[in-house]
Amino acid sequence: MKKIIQNCPIIIDTDPGHDDALAILLLEKSKMFDIKAITTVAGNSNIQNVTNNARYILDLIGSKTPLYSGSEKPLKRELIKAVVHGDSGLDGACIKVQENISDQAISKIISIVRENPGEVSIVVIGPETNIARAFISDPELPRLIKQLIIMGGAITVPGNKNRVAEFNIFVDPEAADIVFSSPVKKVMVPLDVCNDIILQMTDFERLKGSKLYEPLSKMMEKYIAGISAGEKVSGALMYDPLAAYYLINPAAYEIEQMDVKVETIGELTRGMTVADRRIWSDHESNVDVVTKIDAKSFIDDMLSILGDRKSLS
Ligand code: BDR
Ligand code: CA
Repeated sequence: MKKIIQNCPIIIDTDPGHDDALAILLLEKSKMFDIKAITTVAGNSNIQNVTNNARYILDLIGSKTPLYSGSEKPLKRELIKAVVHGDSGLDGACIKVQENISDQAISKIISIVRENPGEVSIVVIGPETNIARAFISDPELPRLIKQLIIMGGAITVPGNKNRVAEFNIFVDPEAADIVFSSPVKKVMVPLDVCNDIILQMTDFERLKGSKLYEPLSKMMEKYIAGISAGEKVSGALMYDPLAAYYLINPAAYEIEQMDVKVETIGELTRGMTVADRRIWSDHESNVDVVTKIDAKSFIDDMLSILGDRKSLS
């Protein structure tokens, strides 16, 4: 992949999270974007912890990207936190700061989009609560956003939270329903493609000699232990950086258009992303679903960018 400086305006809406940390670092260190804000949402841990974690990640690379905290709980439900990232949401990181909590995320998302109509891409890698609240406050907003890149959902594979639902959608299905029903352009990176891209500690050794090697190794050791205990998979699942990498190298992705709705009522199916896969269906598609990713390009480029190696694959 040739590195092209795009400088497009983006927002990262996130609940860091080990894989969120990689996604943020990847986008920041690529230097390809004008990152207008990082907005946090409760998900992997509570809003205080995930906001502290976001600040820690930005401080690791001396980034001055504005950070705003957002929703402390889902629209209509109590927060159910993740297990694999540990209690702090980012076990293995040395968190010392206590960041101010302001709930400014929603007003900032609205003002950034309104100041740059049709230009802003939002990387949505936590529950969709902030985005849904922005859409409720400003119903014109979906048509003013360039695209949402959403890590979430499962099309043909089992869920990673309940039998059928992926964590981000499971946590706030009502918010996801608002987002999926809205006319905003959506690119969905579901578990189907994420389940296949897993890194081991030996992969992260390629970062040796770079500033991020030590802190990332400590975080990834904890993440891999959490994934092994929680999901019975051995290695670090690359959920959120796969959404981030779409902006860096969309040519590495295959897409299929589908009509996807979110289950908010089912007792066993809370948060299921139900795709209409009937060949005779006449429903219009509402999401670009990623069906394949060039794993080698992703891994090589991500480790090159994080490790400050200039030449990308
Ligand atoms: C998603 O859930 C979170 O735990 C991860 O950060 C990712 O966004 C994967 O299901
Ligand atoms: Ca996340």
